[in-house]
Amino acid sequence: MSSNTTVIELKGITKRYGYGDTESFALKDFDLTVKRGEFIMIMGPSGCGKTTLLNTIGLLDRATEGSYILNGEDVAGISSSRQSKLRAKKIGFIFQDFNLISDLPVIDNVALPLVYAGYSKTAQLKQASSTLSRFHLQEREYYMPHQLSGGQQQRVAIARAIVSDPEIILADEPTGNLDSRSSHVVMEELKAIHEEGNTIIMVTHNPSLTTYATRVINMLDGQIDTDVKTVSDQNLPKPVEERTTVRRTRKKSGRKK
Ligand SMILES: Nc1ncnc2c1ncn2[C@@H]1O[C@H](COP(=O)(O)OP(=O)(O)OP(=O)(O)O)[C@@H](O)[C@H]1O
Ligand SMILES: [Mg+2]
Repeated sequence: MSSNTTVIELKGITKRYGYGDTESFALKDFDLTVKRGEFIMIMGPSGCGKTTLLNTIGLLDRATEGSYILNGEDVAGISSSRQSKLRAKKIGFIFQDFNLISDLPVIDNVALPLVYAGYSKTAQLKQASSTLSRFHLQEREYYMPHQLSGGQQQRVAIARAIVSDPEIILADEPTGNLDSRSSHVVMEELKAIHEEGNTIIMVTHNPSLTTYATRVINMLDGQIDTDVKTVSDQNLPKPVEERTTVRRTRKKSGRKK
C-alpha cells in the first residue's frame, strides 16, 4: 500500500440552510483532499462552518450538494444505515463537552462503539479495559463520569473514540473546556494516536495548538481561506504494520511540546 493514500475527498460540498430570504450557507463549494496520516487543524471565526464540516466528514450530517469519497467509496448518497455502519467502523468522534453518558460507568461508555459494532460482551469489556489502561484510567473503570475531572473525562472520550480502532479521528474543540495543563495532556494523547499513523482532523480556537498539526486550514464564511501544510505528504507517519520493512524517516520532533 502506498503511504500517500487519500482517505477523504470532498468536492463542491455545499450545505445550505433555509430558502429564499432565509437562505444561508454553512459550507460553500468546499473542496478538501485528506491523505492518511495528516493531522489537520481547522480554525476560523464562530459560524464559519467548522462544525458543519466535521459533521459532514463524520457522516453525522449530509451536504446539500457535492461529492464525498471516503476510502474510495462514494458516501454522499448512501442510506443512513450504511452511513452509521461506516461511521462506527472508520470514524471516532471527540467533542468539546465530552458527550459521555452520565448514568453509565466509564468502562461502558468506552465500550459503546463496540456494542454498535457487534462485539460480544466479554470482548467489549476486555477491549475497553485495555484502551483505558493506555490512558492510565484503569483504576477508574467503574467510576461514573461525574466523579472524574474534565481532563479525565476527555481522556475517557478519547478512549471511546479509538476503542474500535477507527482510522479517522474527528475532534471538535476537544480542549475547549479544559485548563491548559489538561489540554496539554489531551494533545499529547492525540499526538501519540497520530504518530501511530491515524488521520486526525481537529477544530480549535487556540492557535498555540497548531504546533501539533501537519496542516492548518483557516476557514471563512463556509470556504477555505488559507491552507498550509507544515509536513510534506511523504513524511506523514505510517501505520504501524507498514513500518516493519520501512525505517521511519521522520525524526521524533521538529515540533514544540
Ligand atoms: N440547523 C441549522 N439551521 C440553520 N443554520 C444553521 C444550523 N446549523 C448551523 N447553522 C449555521 O451554519 C453556520 C455554520 O455553523 P457551524 O456550527 O458549522 O459554525 P462553527 O464554525 O462550528 O462555529 P463555532 O466556532 O461557534 O462552533 C452558522 O452560521 C450557523 O448559524
Ligand atoms: Mg463549532
